[in-house]
Amino acid sequence: ALISSSIAGPRFDCLPEPNGNQGACEARGCIWKEDDSGKNAPWCYFKDGVGYKLDSQQGTTYNLRKNNGPSNPWGADSTEIKLTTKTIGSVLNVKIGIDGRYEPPVDFPRETQSSDESLVLSTSSSNDIFSFSVVRQSSNRKLFDTSIGGLIFSDQFIQIATYLPSENMYGWGENTHQSLRHDFTKYLTWAMLARDQPPNSGSLDTMNLYGVHPYYMILEPDGKAHGVLIINSNAQEVTTAPGPSLIYRTIGGNLDMYFFPGPTPEMVTQQYLKFIGKPFLPAYWALGYQLSRYGYKGLNEMKTRIQAVRDAGIPIDIGVADIDYMQRYKDFTTGDDWSGFGDYVKTMHSWGMKLILIFDPAIEATYPSFQRAIAANAKFIEWESQSQVQTSIQNLYPMAKDTKIMLGVVWPDNHVAFPDFLDSTNNTQNWWINEFVTYQSQVAFDGIWIDMNEPSNFGTNQAHPWYFDSDDHPDDAPLFCPTNGSNLWEMPPYKTRAVWRFGDASSEAFLSTNTLCMLAQQDGGKQRFYNVKNLYGLTEAIHTQKALFKATGKRGAVVSRSTYPSAGRYAGHWLGDNTARWEDLRTSVIGAQEFNLFGIPYVGSDVCGFIGTTTEELCLRWQQMGAFHSFFRNHNTIGAPAQDPAVWPSVSAATKQANLFRYQYLPYLFSLHFAASQNGGSVIRPVFFEFPTDAETFNLGYEFMWGPRILVAPVIYQGTTSVNVYLPTDQWYSLFDYKYGSVISPGYTTVPAPTTSRIPVFVRGMSVIPRQTPSTTTTATRQNPFELLIAPCQMGKGLGTLYWDDGETIVNDFNSHDYHQFDFVYNTTTTGGLLTINHSRKSSTISLPTLDIIEIFNYPKAPNFRSFTINGKAVNINVQKSTYSGITKTLYISTVG
Ligand code: GLC
Repeated sequence: ALISSSIAGPRFDCLPEPNGNQGACEARGCIWKEDDSGKNAPWCYFKDGVGYKLDSQQGTTYNLRKNNGPSNPWGADSTEIKLTTKTIGSVLNVKIGIDGRYEPPVDFPRETQSSDESLVLSTSSSNDIFSFSVVRQSSNRKLFDTSIGGLIFSDQFIQIATYLPSENMYGWGENTHQSLRHDFTKYLTWAMLARDQPPNSGSLDTMNLYGVHPYYMILEPDGKAHGVLIINSNAQEVTTAPGPSLIYRTIGGNLDMYFFPGPTPEMVTQQYLKFIGKPFLPAYWALGYQLSRYGYKGLNEMKTRIQAVRDAGIPIDIGVADIDYMQRYKDFTTGDDWSGFGDYVKTMHSWGMKLILIFDPAIEATYPSFQRAIAANAKFIEWESQSQVQTSIQNLYPMAKDTKIMLGVVWPDNHVAFPDFLDSTNNTQNWWINEFVTYQSQVAFDGIWIDMNEPSNFGTNQAHPWYFDSDDHPDDAPLFCPTNGSNLWEMPPYKTRAVWRFGDASSEAFLSTNTLCMLAQQDGGKQRFYNVKNLYGLTEAIHTQKALFKATGKRGAVVSRSTYPSAGRYAGHWLGDNTARWEDLRTSVIGAQEFNLFGIPYVGSDVCGFIGTTTEELCLRWQQMGAFHSFFRNHNTIGAPAQDPAVWPSVSAATKQANLFRYQYLPYLFSLHFAASQNGGSVIRPVFFEFPTDAETFNLGYEFMWGPRILVAPVIYQGTTSVNVYLPTDQWYSLFDYKYGSVISPGYTTVPAPTTSRIPVFVRGMSVIPRQTPSTTTTATRQNPFELLIAPCQMGKGLGTLYWDDGETIVNDFNSHDYHQFDFVYNTTTTGGLLTINHSRKSSTISLPTLDIIEIFNYPKAPNFRSFTINGKAVNINVQKSTYSGITKTLYISTVG
């Protein structure tokens, strides 16, 4: 039986809506049977036989026809659908659907990377049910296997289910995950719909957050990995179930699936990113430390807090201004308490610091930016017809009168309109870019933070939204969407898990909760918001990156709250409005790894916690951990006490220490970003990426790696001063205070991690790590001498690469980009060590600091400091500053000049 009635077997939920009951279940012709197995199996499930049968086959096209099995309760089953398959390089595409249906308007480069592995489709039919599997030829393993049944295809409800080759599944997003690996011991359903939804905010922590990533990776039992992308942008969800199996549901579009063969996890990531688009290269300074908060009372407070951090000697590069700097939260304006902002930015620049400013997409319908948009024929998200327009609201705004613009409510005092970044006339995008260019000439920002782009709209469908009681929000009438049952955009037959809110299944939300109405339209009616809403952040990021380039002439960095596959080409991401709790520190550690899987390596969390009041200890530990995330920003909410590191002497000292380490190792972190941008791939990565056959790493979410060579084990529990670290079998050296430079045995080790020390960090043998003597800005650090850390493997070898450009030129094409590349090879010899530096790519314009310091671990014996050579040339050693420790076997060489 394809669908067994025993709880052990798969059950396809026939009543996934909240508050189901037996009567409703049986009315759908389904089976009602309670589950007390602890697996959380659906109590109402389909009878056997749901699916399609094979009608005919032409080449790689399979024509399928609805069989005589149960039909679905969410609309008429499509009688005929097609499965087509093709290979794109090493990528296998399986597409199920109907021609002419909605397809996400996203321009993926679809570049491929060759692989020794090939994936093939195999099909079978039994009992009038067609099924297929995707098979890895080298191992004959089924990576995807729909013989589990359950294929459903109707206009607004599509479901596909599969057995999986292993429980080691990672990804799907954006959700908060307490563990890196998914849980298949029970039925858990994860919602995916872009929403302004803080992480960890309810007992139902499978809630959908800001972005949508229909992508997962699986590590197979033999250590090979594959990835699967489903190009679909509708509201959707995935259920993990025993088997292991998964059930994917979406409420529009087609099932357009892409399988990436790997075989290593990092190769899967490279293949995925080549296909969807490789991540942008952040400016070098964007890897510096950022200080932010919501609720600065004015420019003076921002100056005071930045000064406090600088005075404490803490490395910091970036000041961030939240919506407070604007005049009443209107983009491209400066508030009264912020006069002199333009001059302060010049001062920051003179310190080698940079400024990132927030911009929200919603434009108040009253002021010059909006007026210019209307004059430029820019488009905003619209109602589909004039008759739907809420005229009592619209009439308040002469500039919006007689338009179909859907007015909503965000931070500004009056109603707002949402720019349409899918506008095929480009009027909207050109207006948007011009606004940035004009504003940048007043306040010379260097990077752009785009927020609220799910897009967020306050109080949708709520008679008494929260802002009615807030001083900041005079009584803007909220947006009401037509939520009568006949409106199939707002009230589709199935609304997904996204309508289960705040841990309380009984408080049902709408798809439009916190956002605009699903029936809204973009691009002059060519796109339905119901389909494209999850692309809003992506499309805003595309044009905001253009705006940044045009306004600054430099590559800077954009960070976006809402993302979709390929967003990493244009922007980074922060993990949203977390809470100052230990739990949120932990989920951030996992979140940053997931966004590297998703191709958005410029990622991090609100360090010390956004919502709520942080504590000294939590803030200290978060600063120490965040120092290893690419996007490294302390950010706080309005009304909460200051939490920059200068507030507490202990946090200040720990942050200074952590940041100096980060700044010292930035050439390595930057080189990882450079490689990821050039070739695809991750920067921070789960430990299993490097050790895919070591089962101990498969769910090791609270440790992570910086590329292939450095492992970080942060302190993430209150009151702890040690970490039980797992080191996979390899050569490892301590890179923190405990036994610095010594070999640490693999396996589990409890290492001390007092608050006064740096958190545990290890370097793996076989490494040559480029470093630089740190200063308190990246601008100053970039002028300092280079250093190399050599950590040989047991065979005495080391490898490494340094990429170095001017840190800010826009990368149009790596072939013509101006940069240096150095490849390092180290070999232990009978007389000592031999380091070869190959300057494999030279820039004629970018000057280089000298290489003054070389640190070598596991160096066998005290050397003769007078006889060192690099590339065969004698080096002049500063004997006073050079040392050798016979205990740790660490050689530290300082050259002269
Ligand atoms: C949103 C953002 C947060 C920001 C606030 C005010 O909540 O996620 O980071 O501080 O808006 O702009």
